[in-house]
Parts: sequence; C-alpha cells; structure tokens
Amino acid sequence: GWNSWNHFACDVSDKLIRETADAMVASGMRDAGYRYVVIDDCWQVARRADGTIVADSVRFPAGIKPLADYVHGRGLRFGIYTDAGTRTCQGRPGTLGHEVQDARTYAAWGVDYVKEDWCNATGLDAPTQYARFRDALARSGRRIVLSICEWGSNQPWEWAPRIGHLWRTTDDIEDTWPSMLGNLDQSAQHAGVAGPGGWNDPDMLEVGNGGMTADEYRAHFSLWAIMAAPLIAGNDLRTMTAETRGILTNTEVIAVDQDSLGRQGMLIWADGPEKQVWAKPLAGGARAVALFNRSDAPAKIPAWFSRTGLRSDSV
Ligand code: GLA
Repeated sequence: GWNSWNHFACDVSDKLIRETADAMVASGMRDAGYRYVVIDDCWQVARRADGTIVADSVRFPAGIKPLADYVHGRGLRFGIYTDAGTRTCQGRPGTLGHEVQDARTYAAWGVDYVKEDWCNATGLDAPTQYARFRDALARSGRRIVLSICEWGSNQPWEWAPRIGHLWRTTDDIEDTWPSMLGNLDQSAQHAGVAGPGGWNDPDMLEVGNGGMTADEYRAHFSLWAIMAAPLIAGNDLRTMTAETRGILTNTEVIAVDQDSLGRQGMLIWADGPEKQVWAKPLAGGARAVALFNRSDAPAKIPAWFSRTGLRSDSV
C-alpha cells in the first residue's frame, strides 16, 4: 500500500489522498499489487460530546466516508491511523476508552485498515490494549486489517501474531542508509514468527523520498522483499520519477515479497560486516537470494548453492 507519513507528515488532506489514489492507478502501482491507501496521523482533531471522533473539517471538508468511497471507486482499499493511548504522537485524540466506538465509526466509514500507534500510553499494557482494539474491530461488522505500531518496544513478536496482521519491529525509519540498515537488522531477528496473516513490519518504504541514491533504494526495496515485509510506499506518488516508479513496480521483486509460502528470509552468510548473502525460501522449493554489499566500494560476494539451500544440480 501507501501511507502518508514518511513524505507528508501532518500535511494530509482530502485532495492529497484522492490524488494519491489516482496516481496509484495511473502509475501502475495498483496493477503491481499495491492495495491500501492509508492516512497517517493528523486527520483527526476532536471528539464530539457523544465521543465520536471528528476529522479536520478544513483538510477533509467532505468528511472521511466520501474519501473512502472515492478510494474504493479506484479499486483500492482505505486505511486510517489512531493511537492506543490518550493522544496520538502528534497530540490528536487517541482511542483509549473509545475502542468500540472508534471501531464502529471506522467500519461505518468503510475503513479497511487501521494503524494503531503507541504514544501517550504510559502505564498501559500493550498486548491488553491491542487485543481490546482487535476485539472491537472484530465486532465492528467489517473486515479490517490491524497494523500494530509500538515500535518493537514491548516484544511484539511474542504476542502480536495473535492480535494483529502486521507489527512494527523497530523505531521510525528515516530516509538514510544507516536507518534503513538498522531497521533491516532489527527486523531480521524475528524471522521465525512471520507468516501468512501476520508479518514483521520494519516500517514504511522511503523509496523516492530523496535521501538515498537509486542503488540504495533498490537495496532497500529488495531487502524488504526478502524479509516478506509489508511494502508500504511512503513517497509522493503524484510526482515520482520513472526510476522510482520502476523500483516500486518491479514485479519480480514484489513476487518475492508476496510469495505464497510466506516465509521471512534470513541472513545466511557474511564476510565481515559488509558482504552478506540473504535468502528467502519460496513456494515450490525455490529460493530468492540477495547478494548485499553494505559498503561504498565494489565487492565480490560468493554465494554457494549449498548454503542458499539449493541443490548444486538445480537449474
Ligand atoms: C509514530 C509512528 C510513525 C507515525 C508517527 C505519526 O512515530 O511510529 O510511523 O505514525 O507516529 O505521528
């Protein structure tokens, strides 16, 4: 999918989301498999006297339901953001104490995906709060994906597979090579718990946001695919270059990510801190193999068939 945060932060609006849905179609991203258009923080401003959450009427003058309808009309699904605590990370109203009400509101609006953050949640127990929201969503009358976003701070790999469909394993990604590598290495530690229906989330993509080179973005995208990570674009789809579009719509890389076996790949060989071989088992006994040079200098990286899990007589 796509999420507004990495590129737009709080600068979200009805216009941006509609244009992004249009661009998702026009760019070929929808056809490549991208499904969800997700508004992150800052769409909400208050609660009515009866507790109903209220969208920013300047930025979303028609409200959220018509926007969800528009996104659905483009053959896409619609996502939104909240926080398990009293306030979101940007100080907007959180869902604490309003779990059932918010789940019902989202269902009535046609929401298909909710990302639930963890700011202003001091003293709360993460598994308890996320399970409460899971149960509220389950009773909302609509099938809704739950994205758990507590940054890996409460060992979510131990409990989130029972509660959500994806869970962040790391702090927020930044549009830099070291940040991308840090999130890769952290999320790689929990490969065993990922599988169909529940995925480690090393955070949204920075591809196309300008802080890394095209080679670095290709590595970022390929490694997220090897890790079976949610591929959630975080750039401006309306103005992206052909090169960025080419990375995001690379059907072979996306096929590795989306392979039906649903296994997260792992680091299988390293020579020092910079030369690495990663491999992901695929359905039917195939393997996707990534030769990864983390340094700035060219390198030769050997990958033996036996070490990748392939028989040496494989074609
Ligand atoms: C946290 C999350 C981010 C984003 C912001 C919004 O930092 O981890 O992904 O949602 O909040 O405020």
